[in-house]
Amino acid sequence: MMKRQLKKNILCIGAGYVGAPTMAMIAEKCPDYKVTVVDINPVKIDAWNSDRLPIYEPGLEEIIRRNRGRNLFFSKDIEDAIRRNDIIFVSVNTPTKTFGTGAGMAADLQFVEKTARQILKCAESSKIVIEKSTLPVKTAQAMERILASGKDNVTFEVLSNPEFMAEGTAISDLENPDRVLIGSRETPGGLAARRELVRIYNRWVPPERIITSNLWSSELSKLVANAFLAQRVSSINSISALCEKTDADISEVAKAVGMDSRIGAKFLKAGVGFGGSCFKKDILNLVYLCRYYGLPEVADYWENVVRINTYQQDRFLATILSAMFNTLAGKRICLLGFAFKADTGDTRESPAISIAGKLLAEQAEVVISDPKALGNAAVDLADFAGRVRYVEDPYLAAKGCHALVIMTDWDLYRRLDYRKLYRSMVRPAFLFDGRNVADHAKCFALGFNVYPIGKPALSHFQPPSAVRG
Ligand SMILES: NC(=O)c1ccc[n+]([C@@H]2O[C@H](COP(=O)([O-])OP(=O)(O)OC[C@H]3O[C@@H](n4cnc5c(N)ncnc54)[C@H](O)[C@@H]3O)[C@@H](O)[C@H]2O)c1
Repeated sequence: MMKRQLKKNILCIGAGYVGAPTMAMIAEKCPDYKVTVVDINPVKIDAWNSDRLPIYEPGLEEIIRRNRGRNLFFSKDIEDAIRRNDIIFVSVNTPTKTFGTGAGMAADLQFVEKTARQILKCAESSKIVIEKSTLPVKTAQAMERILASGKDNVTFEVLSNPEFMAEGTAISDLENPDRVLIGSRETPGGLAARRELVRIYNRWVPPERIITSNLWSSELSKLVANAFLAQRVSSINSISALCEKTDADISEVAKAVGMDSRIGAKFLKAGVGFGGSCFKKDILNLVYLCRYYGLPEVADYWENVVRINTYQQDRFLATILSAMFNTLAGKRICLLGFAFKADTGDTRESPAISIAGKLLAEQAEVVISDPKALGNAAVDLADFAGRVRYVEDPYLAAKGCHALVIMTDWDLYRRLDYRKLYRSMVRPAFLFDGRNVADHAKCFALGFNVYPIGKPALSHFQPPSAVRG
């Protein structure tokens, strides 16, 4: 059989939630390009090359299976891959710094910088280096300075191409993005590199959805997009607290507000708070940048988005505690869902981590159920080993429990047989719906004491308006 000639070589450094799905999509849409993904974590590369992928994402397995070994490759040899590829995406993690100046706020850029230095060390020809990671504005300048310190005959153009996909819908977001943003220097070299990347996306993204900008607008836009999304969640959650005091219903308020076309209906669902690896980290990064540039009022404004998120989780725990007669010691509580959102196994910054920790601090027995996230949950709660049970089947998990706490909006939890659950639980049985997914009136009629978010509680002990203090 004749070997197919692949026209372009593309590399991605970082085989995580962003790097691997993004490259799988490029491989799918550009069958004549060879796409390689590398990572410093060899276990991850082995997993990407196996039948058990390291992450769960709807549609991901199929796209990997179709392209892997054809024009999509996962490799541990980073140095060789850098030598062979002239278009290099950098999609390494950029967590919040945990040490030194800016600890708890600024982005930890050590992985990005190490990658830049490794590219510099191994490159034997000129390259386009594309920031795919979410980075503080002006990071490209640091990348450029590191990359410019090498051999004269090898040059680098740094582009910013932040990723806007969301976990849970990553494959459809990548296939049909609202927009692709490409930032570059506005020099002849920068513009040529920008055109090169536009050509790749042009294979499947309509030209009007590919937008270009200078480097700094591109870097900043990603932080701002996440800050705006998280802000909407905190806005509706702050109003859910007021609803609980006034017998207004947050779903009715959100519907009435969201039907204003200037506001829009998306991201107006009240719940126990946002999680995920990005929102909190990116807002804190924005806050840090604002303080760094002497804008304390702007920093305070955005910091409150994170504060309301913490407040919402604290409020939820307070509701559980007060509804259950101010003691949880020895009571068995089942968390339905541990992933930070539906359709992912990712638990990074999931509100379930802090709620589980607080329930355990109250000496409750905790049972965790989730269709995809039990492995990650066990890692997150490793400090409580022996005190937490992990049971995938929600009916087995709920058996003998005093309360159900819905933490993730898995569709599965909308369709549960709550009668069956109720029958297997200790009475009085409680349902705390942190995602407003259950049919509350029906659950109340079955016998549950029901505590939604931002709606009147339905308790068999007190008249509805007197339930929350
Ligand atoms: N997860 C999301 O939904 C999402 C969405 C948009 C943007 N982002 C951003 O994309 C970036 C990556 O996020 P992620 O969720 O994919 O992270 P991740 O932790 O899943 O993956 C990052 C990978 O980079 C690898 N890595 C780190 N240093 C390396 C090095 N020097 N050489 C090779 N590999 C290295 C790690 O081993 C890890 O596998 C972050 O900046 C994040 O903010 C994430």
